[in-house]
Amino acid sequence: MCGIVGYVGHRQALDVVLGGLRRLEYRGYDSAGVAVLDGAGALRVQRKAGRLANLEAQLDADGRQTFAGTAGMGHTRWATHGPPVDRNSHPHRDASNTVAVVHNGIIENFAELRTELEAEGVELASDTDTETTAHLIAAAYATGETAGDLPASVRAVCRRLEGAFTLVVTHAGVPDQIVAARRSSPLVIGVGDGEHFVASDVAAFIEHTREAVELGQDQVVVISRDGYEVTDFAGEPAQAKPFTVDWDLSAAEKGGHDYFMLKEIEEQPDALANTLRGHFHNGRITLDEQRLADQDLRDIDKVFVVACGSAYHSGLVAKYAIEHWCRLPVEVELASEFRYRDPVLDRDTLVVAVSQSGETMDTLEAVRHAREQKARVLAVCNTNGAQIPRESDAVLYTHAGPEIGVASTKAFLAQIAANYLVGLALAQARGTKYPDEVAREFAELANTPAAVQKTLATSEQVRALGREIADSKAVLFLGRHVGFPVALEGALKLKELAYMHAEGFAAGELKHGPIALIEQDLPVVIVMPSPKGRAVLHSKLVSNISEIQARGARTIVIAEEGDDAVRPYADSLIEIPATSTLLQPLVATVPLQILAAEIARSRGYDIDKPRNLAKSVTVE
Ligand code: M6R
Repeated sequence: MCGIVGYVGHRQALDVVLGGLRRLEYRGYDSAGVAVLDGAGALRVQRKAGRLANLEAQLDADGRQTFAGTAGMGHTRWATHGPPVDRNSHPHRDASNTVAVVHNGIIENFAELRTELEAEGVELASDTDTETTAHLIAAAYATGETAGDLPASVRAVCRRLEGAFTLVVTHAGVPDQIVAARRSSPLVIGVGDGEHFVASDVAAFIEHTREAVELGQDQVVVISRDGYEVTDFAGEPAQAKPFTVDWDLSAAEKGGHDYFMLKEIEEQPDALANTLRGHFHNGRITLDEQRLADQDLRDIDKVFVVACGSAYHSGLVAKYAIEHWCRLPVEVELASEFRYRDPVLDRDTLVVAVSQSGETMDTLEAVRHAREQKARVLAVCNTNGAQIPRESDAVLYTHAGPEIGVASTKAFLAQIAANYLVGLALAQARGTKYPDEVAREFAELANTPAAVQKTLATSEQVRALGREIADSKAVLFLGRHVGFPVALEGALKLKELAYMHAEGFAAGELKHGPIALIEQDLPVVIVMPSPKGRAVLHSKLVSNISEIQARGARTIVIAEEGDDAVRPYADSLIEIPATSTLLQPLVATVPLQILAAEIARSRGYDIDKPRNLAKSVTVE
C-alpha cells in the first residue's frame, strides 16, 4: 500500500528519492515524507499530510539545499494506524533524532511494543505502529550485543515484530548505509553503478537502472554506494534473486495523456498481445513457470479461483470457460472470504490465485491457506517475482506492463486472457479438448487485440454519453452469462472512480428485487450477448430491457455490431465487434472503463488516485 524508496550513491539523495516517490505515489497518497543523511552526523527529515505536491512545496519553502546528502529515503502513505496528518506521516524517528524509519504493512504486536516503550518512559509522538520500531532500533543500536551495528540492530528488532512489514532504516551515525528488511510485504533492490536503491517496486528506480534483485521473505539488505549484502533475520548470508526489468521508463510515464488510466485503457491491445505471446509453441499451451507435472494437472478434480476486486471479476469470467473446456467444477471466491470458511481442499484441488500486484495480502493469505491444505496453486500475476508467484507451484505472468492508475484496466483484460490460457492448459493436459481445438481457441484469443483496438474507436461516443449522465445519482449494470461479471466490473469502475452508487446484477435476477430500483431516467447499462452465439439469452435480455424501459429508465446498450433486434430498446447503443461468446468480456469491458473515467472526470475527480484507495492492498 505505501510506497517506499531508499538510496545511497553519488547523486543528491533528495532528487532521487522525490523522483522515486513520484512514481510510487499510486501506492498511497495520504501523506509523504523524506529523510536525508547529510554525512556529518545529521538527519534532515520533512513530512507532510496530503499529496506529494504538499511535501515538495514544503521542501521548497525550507530550501532544498538544506537537504544535501547522498543517502536518503522517502515514503508515500496509505493510512492504517492514525489519521493522515503530519505527525503520523513517515519517516518516524526515535527521541534522539538519530534513527529514521519508513514502513509498509502492519505491525500486529505494536500495542504490546508501545506499552513496553511507554513503561520505559519513551514518549511516542504519533499514533502509528511504525514509530515503535524507530525507538526499538535506536535502543538496540545504543546498548547490548547489537550496539553500534545498525544491520544487527534492525535484525534483532525484526525478530520481535509480528505481522507484515517492509522497513527501511537510516541512522545519522551511519551515513553511508541504508538497511531494509521485509516480511510478506514487497521490497526490491536496484543495482546501479556506484549507487544502490531499495524500493517497494522497480518503478521507483527504473529511471536509473533496470538491474534489480528481489529481497526474499524474512531477509535484510544493507545497501551502500558500492554494493549490497543480504542476510536472513538471524544474520546468516542469504540469497536474493536478481532479475532485469523488462520494461523501460516510458512505460511508467503518461505519454501525453492527462492520466495514466487513459493511457492504460489505450494500451489494452498491446497488453493482451504481450500476455498471449510465447504461450503457444509447437501446438501446445505453455505457462511461464511450471513446478507441476502434467500428471498433477490430470489429477485435478476441482478448481478454485481466488482473487479480489477486478481480479475476482476476471475469475468469474474464467469459470465459464474452464467449466466448458475442462468439464471441471470451478468455484470463484473472494480471497478475503476463502480461508475463513474452511473450503474443502486437497492435493487434487487447483487454486488459481489472480493478482495484478502479486502482493495483495488477502490473496497471499488464501494462497498460503491452500498450500497448507496441500492444494496446488497457480498464480496469474502481472509483477515479476512478487510474493504470490514466489509462493505458488506454477505461474502465468500477464505481461500488461506497469499499471499505475489505481483502477485496473489493462491488467484486468490481461487477467481474463491469462485465465483462458490456464483453462486451455488444463484442457490440453486432461485431454478434454483435442489439440486442434486448443489451437483454434488460441487463434481466436490471438485476434482479440485487434477487436479491442476497434472497440477503442467508440471512445468519443462513450465519453459524450458519460458527460450526459455524469449528474445521475446512480447507475445500474446488467448482464447474463459472461456479461454478468462484465456488469460487476463496470459498476466497480464507476464506484471507485466517480464515487457514484453503482450496482451490477445478473439480468435474470432483475425481477427478484432489483427492478424496484428502476425509476424515471435512471441510467441502466446492459451488456448484450451475441444474437448468434447465445440466441436464447439474447432474447431473454431483450425482454429484460423492455421491462426496464417500460418503467422509464434510460437504457444504454452494449451490443455486437449488427444486432438490430436490440436497437429499438436502446436509448443509447454502443456497438462492439463480434467475438465468440467467451471472448466478449474482452471487448465489452472497454466502453465501461471509458464511461467510468469520463464520468469521474466530469465530476472533477483525479481518476488515477481515487479517494481512500491505493493500488495494492498489502494489509488484510
Ligand atoms: O493487485 P490485485 O490484482 O491483487 O488487486 C486486486 C484488487 O485490489 C484490484 O483489482 C482493485 O479492485 C482495483 N482497484 C479495481 O479497479
